[in-house]
Order: sequence, then C-alpha cells, then structure tokens
Amino acid sequence: MRKFNVAVVGATGAVGEEFYRLFEEYDFPIAKLVPLASARSVGKEIEYAGRAIKVQELTHDIFEKEEIDIAFFSAGGSISAKFADSAVEAGAVVIDNTSHFRMDPEIPLVVPEVNPEDIRLWKNRGIIANPNCSTIQMVQALKAVDDLYGIVRVDVSTYQATSGAGKAGMEELVKQMQDFFAFKLGESPHEAFLHQIALNVIPQVDVAMDNGFTKEEMKMVNESRKILHKEIEVAATCVRVPVLRSHSESITVTFGENVVVNVDEVRQAFDNFEHLVVQDDLPNGVYPMPVTATDTDLTYVGRIRKDIFRDNILHFWNVADQVRVGAATNSLRIAQKWIELED
Ligand code: A2P
Repeated sequence: MRKFNVAVVGATGAVGEEFYRLFEEYDFPIAKLVPLASARSVGKEIEYAGRAIKVQELTHDIFEKEEIDIAFFSAGGSISAKFADSAVEAGAVVIDNTSHFRMDPEIPLVVPEVNPEDIRLWKNRGIIANPNCSTIQMVQALKAVDDLYGIVRVDVSTYQATSGAGKAGMEELVKQMQDFFAFKLGESPHEAFLHQIALNVIPQVDVAMDNGFTKEEMKMVNESRKILHKEIEVAATCVRVPVLRSHSESITVTFGENVVVNVDEVRQAFDNFEHLVVQDDLPNGVYPMPVTATDTDLTYVGRIRKDIFRDNILHFWNVADQVRVGAATNSLRIAQKWIELED
C-alpha cells in the first residue's frame, strides 16, 4: 500500500495534536510526518508512534522541500489563505480545517458520511474544506432524517465547548475555575472569550453579522445547505458553555406538511447511519452528554421525540467531540476517502 508524506499545519494546536493520536489509531499510511507551526514553536517536539519529531517553521518552501502529499491545515483562516496554495503547488492535497475556503463554489466541503462523492472535486483547486464543527455533527444526523422524510427547515441551539477556541479557550476555562476556587474569579482575565466563561454561558460564538446572527450561526446555515445540496431553511443560535471539548445541540426539524414523524423509524434511521449512536431512554436518564462523547469518534443522538402539536416536526439532542468529530477525525476520514479514490 502506498504511504504518504503528511504535513500538519498548526502542529502545536488543540486540533493539530489530536492528529498524532488519530494517525496511530487509524493506522494512517504515513511515510513521513512533518509538523509545522509558527517560528515560536521551532525547537518543540511532538510525539508520534513512540518517536519525538521536531516541529518546523511553516514557510512557503517547506512543502516542496519535504515532498508533502497530504497537508492538514488547522492554524486559522489567515494562515490557510497565505500558505494553502504553496502546498498545492508543491503537489499536495490540502485538507483545510478553517473557514477560509468553505463557501468557495469550486472547493468541496465534505462530511464523509454525508457527501463523500464531493471529494472528487478536490481536483478543481487541490483543496478540500472541512466544515465548521457544529455543522459536521448536525448534518450527520440531518442526513439520516432527510433521507427518511425530506427536511424543510431546521432550528438549532448549540452548547459549544471551549475547545472551539483552541487550546487558549480550554486553558481560559481551567484558569478561571482555579481562580474561582482561590476566590479571585473577578480578577481572572478573559482573552479567548468576550466574557467570563467559567460558571457562565455566552450567547455569542464568533463575530456579529449585519442580519442579527453571528458568523458561527451563518456558517451553520450556509455550510449545511452546501453539504446537503439542498436549500433548506436553517436558524441557529450558537452558545458557548463552560465545557472542555464536546459540543451539544438541541435540534428541531420540520418536514413537509404531509409527513407524520414516527419516532421508532427515526431511531432506526439514526441507528443505521454510519458513526451515529442512539442513546435514548429518558425515564432511565439515558441520553448523550459531553462526557459521553469526549475522546470518541462517534456522534451521539438522544431525546428523540415528536412535536406535541405538529406531526411533521421532530426534536432531538446531539453531542460530539469538537476536536475529533468536529475537526481532526473528519479531516482524517476525508483523507482516507481521498486515498481510496486516488488508488
Ligand atoms: P504556535 O503554537 O507556534 O503559535 P490552537 O487552535 O490550539 O489555538 O492552535 C493554533 C495552531 O496554529 C498552533 O499550532 C499555532 O502554532 C499555529 N499557528 C498560529 N499562528 C501561526 C503562524 N503564523 N504560522 C504557523 N502556525 C501558526
């Protein structure tokens, strides 16, 4: 089997570091691993397959010098904007985890369980975009019920973990909790988030847009439509909660007027869908939570119920690890499918 030279751009970040564990778990066919970060990280080492590998500085030339075949970018949109083309010019396929290329009509936006066929469009620009974390776990569940009944509209509220803001986000939550127990939470700084995150919830993720929604909310709208290839209506309210690394979502789906939701059928559809797991036994307190999903590659659904007033409306709850399912694992699954296609 062919092996690949793989670069991880953002090698010292929350998502970057997750890749090394995943490469081993998935036995990803790596000939050479090249971790890349800013000049600040030169001299640091990462651990992969029992070996320490030196982090190198991200430059335009490095992809050619290291003969990179696959480059995973996870260092922020501005870095992808500046360096992705250099990787492509050096002959690599770029799997980009930032929002920079997602809505470019030439660039495929892929959740492998939902629209794997779009990976073929990688040839357009040499780039495949990885969707926003909240979008990935939602569209996995939506696809299952869309195939069943045909979605018309989705209303979603998210409960997003601090990992979405990278290592700095998680560290800010931990520091504020420590400061709380030291009776100095009031003096604890907040830089990763607009407000204190410990013992709080913040109804804003990313910047405000002119239409009253946030950028994160509009990502969920636009990306879901692009991935599902369907002009569904989506309204999102994205909320940051003091959880370390798994996002939860409360999702309401409206189907066509004539649909009569059957909860057993829906449960079956979720159960049959790749990488979805149903945990749904409310009387016994069984439903997924961030602690259920963290450090797993599965997307969990529960609290599945039909609307009290309308036969064509379904409500459910959905949880997944933001760093894995919402970022590194989805990128890795894209790469696996890309390899299958290239073979
Ligand atoms: P560095 O540690 O050298 O700053 P997170 O998402 O957890 O915040 O991590 C962001 C990742 O992006 C880190 O690996 C960080 O590396 C990397 N990064 C940030 N700025 C740059 C840059 N200018 N060039 C290369 N990598 C960068």
